[in-house]
Amino acid sequence: MATIINGKELSATIRKEIADRTEEFIKQKGRAPGLAVIIVGEDPASKVYVRNKHKACDEVGFYSQVIELPEETTEEELLSRIRELNASESIDGILVQLPLPRHICEQNVIETIDPKKDVDVFHPMNVGKLTTGNHILTPCTPAGVMEMLRRSGIEIKGKKCVVVGRSNIVGKPMAILLLEAHGTVTVCHSKTVDLKKECLEADILVSAIGKPGFITADMIKPGATVIDVGINRNKEGKLCGDVDYDKVEKIAAYITPVPGGVGPMTVTMLMKNTLLAAENRTK
Ligand code: GUN
Repeated sequence: MATIINGKELSATIRKEIADRTEEFIKQKGRAPGLAVIIVGEDPASKVYVRNKHKACDEVGFYSQVIELPEETTEEELLSRIRELNASESIDGILVQLPLPRHICEQNVIETIDPKKDVDVFHPMNVGKLTTGNHILTPCTPAGVMEMLRRSGIEIKGKKCVVVGRSNIVGKPMAILLLEAHGTVTVCHSKTVDLKKECLEADILVSAIGKPGFITADMIKPGATVIDVGINRNKEGKLCGDVDYDKVEKIAAYITPVPGGVGPMTVTMLMKNTLLAAENRTK
């Protein structure tokens, strides 16, 4: 029976720490850290994520602005809203919820956000800083995973880490952070020849693939740590991760559940980035 790494509980602890530092920030600067979240269109999952981010801001004492724009918003209109937020004194973090409608170029949007306010860490300048190890902000989901490992006392140094998935949001930055923490890192993806063999070597396995039941018990080394970044719906419409939890949980030493695992940690790390951006911008 694996030990469950409870993301909800850990998040509550970290949010309390952020709330305390926010109080200190307000005392010193006379205003709260501010986060602006822009959502374009009506994607139901995105709406839930944005609502969670807004609620988290309230919880830690931030000022937050949710900007809801219609599906037919032009790219120029969106870029112009971002430029206004770049210039705003009360906004320290800007997040444009992805995916965007197809007529808007995601890269143009990302590159318009002031890198100092880029709390997603998607801007090429911040990705470059992350890669060379001199970043102030850390991408939210991978940062959440690192915090779960650290606070559970799981050593990374010298360990074999396998990341399944190579997205810009999770897989690639996850690999960089594990490498920075002295792990020996393998990144697997849809063209990997023998995924099972690679996974069986992992002391720490991070799955960010987005397919329910993709990581099965026969892929897990006994005593491994299994981190499930997937957020999927199974055939019954229930929220689930990438990992066949009930069977894997019998083999792994540590495991994260879905829901209540990485998800809440991602939002918590967004709060941390907003606070860090505010502190950095006003120092
Ligand atoms: N959509 C899914 N995940 C993310 C994320 O981490 N940031 C943004 N901006 N959009 C997302």
